[in-house]
Amino acid sequence: MKIFIDTANINEIEQALELGACDGVTTNPTLLAKEKGNPDDIYRAICERVQGPVCAEAISLEKKDIIQEGENLAAIADNMVVKIPASKDGLKAVRILESQGIRCNVTLVFSPMQALLAAKAGASFICPFVGRLDDASHDGMELIEQITHIYQNYLMNTEIMVASIRSVTHVRDAAMIGADIATIPLKVIEKLTDHPLTDKGIELFIRDWEKVQKQF
Ligand code: E4P
Repeated sequence: MKIFIDTANINEIEQALELGACDGVTTNPTLLAKEKGNPDDIYRAICERVQGPVCAEAISLEKKDIIQEGENLAAIADNMVVKIPASKDGLKAVRILESQGIRCNVTLVFSPMQALLAAKAGASFICPFVGRLDDASHDGMELIEQITHIYQNYLMNTEIMVASIRSVTHVRDAAMIGADIATIPLKVIEKLTDHPLTDKGIELFIRDWEKVQKQF
């Protein structure tokens, strides 16, 4: 499973790169609002630093405006991917942009049928939001299972990027189901290596190594 980092912060991206946990980046307007500077400059800096896809969101609502915004975003760098919400106009724009060779990531996916239509529109990626579904008392991971099943039934190539991840368990479940990608905030990426028995084991080995050293 590929791991993307869900952030617009270049320092966080550097930390994920160091860990080997940055196959790509997803941003959204909320994440951009936490950063200083012009969004296009931020996207450009991220695209220069990361080889994989860098997803930036189009915020227009009408098909023609989404297409224009998508073309502008795609012109920033070759690895830019345009995030487009799973609305009717959004899916119409995805069809046009993908036919022009601009990769799209259909975002804010909350149902299997939105995922089916996104794949039929030719989307390169979709982002089902598991955490927000859990927050609304639904089962986010059930959605990932359903979409995976549907895409396998019809040999659809759209990559499933599990988004709105809140926990290590979400990441584990995404990998168990066989999702293509998980996009994860840094604080969860960092927890992926944590285990109390690893810490305890390191302490024990250090103590025993000191005993070995004292013998010579
Ligand atoms: C995905 O690309 C989104 O940026 C993200 O995962 C949203 O997560 P949130 O529900 O924590 O805002």
